[in-house]
Parts: sequence; C-alpha cells; structure tokens
Amino acid sequence: MPTNTPTPVELPQPDETEKQRSLALCAFIANSCKQQGGAISFGEFMQAALYQPGLGYYSGGRQKFGEHGDFITAPEVSPLFSRCIARQLAQVLAQMEHAVVIEFGAGSGVMAAEILLELERVNCLPDSYRIIELSAELRARQKLMIDERALHLAHKLEWLDSLPESPVQGVVIANEVLDAMPVECFRIAGDSVEQLNVKTDGDQLCACYDAASDELVKQVRTIEERRGASLPDGYCSEVNPSIAGWLQSIGRFLDKGMVLLVDYGYPVSEYYLDERNHGTLICHYRHHAHSDAVWYPGLQDITAFVDFTAVAYAAVDAGFDVSGYTSQAMFLMGCGLGELHAAEVNDDVTQQLLLSQQIKTLTLPSEMGERFKAMALTKEFDEPLIGFMQQDYRNRL
Ligand SMILES: C[S@@+](CC[C@H](N)C(=O)[O-])C[C@H]1O[C@@H](n2cnc3c(N)ncnc32)[C@H](O)[C@@H]1O
Repeated sequence: MPTNTPTPVELPQPDETEKQRSLALCAFIANSCKQQGGAISFGEFMQAALYQPGLGYYSGGRQKFGEHGDFITAPEVSPLFSRCIARQLAQVLAQMEHAVVIEFGAGSGVMAAEILLELERVNCLPDSYRIIELSAELRARQKLMIDERALHLAHKLEWLDSLPESPVQGVVIANEVLDAMPVECFRIAGDSVEQLNVKTDGDQLCACYDAASDELVKQVRTIEERRGASLPDGYCSEVNPSIAGWLQSIGRFLDKGMVLLVDYGYPVSEYYLDERNHGTLICHYRHHAHSDAVWYPGLQDITAFVDFTAVAYAAVDAGFDVSGYTSQAMFLMGCGLGELHAAEVNDDVTQQLLLSQQIKTLTLPSEMGERFKAMALTKEFDEPLIGFMQQDYRNRL
C-alpha cells in the first residue's frame, strides 16, 4: 500500500454518528472474515466498504460529490463536460432508431440532466435514458437533480434494478465508474505473488499479505506478459478483476452502438512502471487524499486508476471494437468544447472567469486533461467518432 500521502492522523475527524456507522460496517466485515476462515481479500473488503447496503460509502447518506463532499468529478466541474459527451452520443444516436442511453453510476445526476438538455438542443433525444445505480440513496438524489434541472425531460428517465434482458441499440456511458470497482492488491515476493487480505486484530481491522489465489497469480502474469518484463521483487500494485465480467454483461444486451468510458488511467506500460511500485490505490476524505484503506470503512472513497490496456483486451473478448482512446482534453476538443465555449462568451466578466477556470480544470495536463482518458468501444458502428479525431492514442495501448 502506498505510504507517501498524509497519514490518517492528519485527517479531519468524523463526528460520532459517522464513527458509529463505520463501526457497524467494521462489525459486518469482521463477521465476513470469521465466516471465511479469518480473512477476506482486499477486493471483498473494498466491495463492502463502498457498497454494503446502508453502510458502504456509496450506499450510505454522506455527501460525496462536490465542494462539501470528498472529491469532485468532471460533470460537477462544468456542464460543458456533459454537453461535449452529449455531442459524441448524438453522432451515434443519430444513426439508430429507438435508441436508448444507459448510464452506469450516475453520481449526483447532473451529467444525466445536462446530457438530456444538450441532446434536446441538437434534436437527438433517445427513447429513454436509463440509469443503473447501485446506491438507493444516490438514486433519490438523481431524481431530485433531474426534477430541478430538466423537469420537462424527466419522463425519459428510468432507473433499472438489473441489466436490460432484451437487446438494445444505443450508448452506454460510465464516467469514473471503473475506478470505483473493487480491486485486488498484490505484491511480488521473489518468484511468487502475494495478495493483500483484510483480517481482524483484536477489535481493529488490518491488512496484510498472504499467498495469492491462483486467479490473481494468473492476472499478474498477464500484466507481466503485456508490459514485456517481469515485475521487480517487492513491487506492489493492484488489478481490477471486475471489468471483464462487466463488459461481457454489456456485450450481451448492447446489439449495436457505443460504450463510452471516461476515467483516470494509463495503458499497461505506464500503469505498471517500475517506479510506480506502490500502485495507484488512493482514499479520499473531505478532499484529503491518503493511503490507509482500512481507515473508518464506509466513510471514505477508495479508488484505483484504470488499466486501459486491460479494458481494451476485455472489450475485444466481449465482442466490441476499440474505436478510440485519447486524453480527456483531446476528447473534449474533438467534441466541440471550443465552439461551446465561444457560444457562451458575453460581457459578464465574473461568468467568463468562471467559465475559463472550468475549462482549465477539465483540460490542463496538470488538472484533469491528461490523467483522465476517454475510450470508445463500438459494435456495428464504423463511422470515425468525433471525440477521437483530434488525437487517438490507441497505438499506446
Ligand atoms: C466516483 S463515482 C462517479 C459518479 C458520476 N459518474 C460522476 O462522474 O460524478 C462512482 C459511481 O460508480 C458507481 N458504480 C460503481 N460500480 C458500479 C457498477 N458495477 N454498476 C453501477 N454503478 C457502479 C457508484 O455507485 C458511484 O455512483
């Protein structure tokens, strides 16, 4: 686990109610450890810490997004982000009849509202806009947001309890969803591989390395094959074992169209650099980043970067073409960010300053511009996609 970030001692302290909620989740996790012979894998721990109904970070009631939450995502920075996404969606939706949009993990719901408003402006509304959201609490927030920003389009919204069973045409979008899926952490120990497990130590939870499962060893060996060299002794990092199954499940219902993924990540050669020997796992609590994943489970976000090479391999296995991969900055430019900005220019200096600050946050390499990537996966759709016309980094995957 990384150690070069502030220690939990420097973090703001949660209040008593929050501490009690975290204690209840710890008791649930401790019980899971007991039932599984003393330990659970880090991925099982992360699943509970983020998604345990009523107690997990995304399932509980804390304000997560924005200034008063723990972190800020691109749709919260500026509506221009969602409007650019909408323009990429419009190119694909325009080629289809009875098309649907399906958004995974819709957060506050602001992206859904802004996308629908932009699709309405360009006369390309889908038959329906469906949201797949694991958290009941976020669903309620999303409904409020749609009613507040796009009430006249609220009839387009549907919240799905499970994936569509009959085939659909259209687009699937997921902004910062892959980074919120549970990962397994590993360490290279000579010729073997160890995995991080979570156990109880008295009444505390702690994380320690044990021999890795066969499945994790296989995944680590695949990484070594793809990067073209063994990982050095002592090297620690993580893999996301959920992405392949997730893409398979999308491949089963999406007959024709595009999956658009935006997230922070790297191709395999950059993700598993020799120097990045503590991985990319990071926790966020009230805009403080640190590395202690077992600190107050349920109260903080736990996230890891995305290995886009692994996503591309899994996509091809699931029947998709990898049709574009680029930085967030280049993607937004390709979708017409400049044009949308120009249309907003007026004499209100304060508003103009705010707008240029938003654009800087979305596009500067030192902010979200380079770290975040966009990847398009298509099925039965061959037109070059506008978001990837300025620059396409598929050759780096
Ligand atoms: C970092 S938040 C991003 C929220 C939003 N997309 C945004 O950009 O503001 C991660 C979201 O992904 C959701 N999520 C993670 N795994 C998911 C899955 N398998 N299916 C649906 N949602 C998922 C979480 O519930 C959460 O809403």
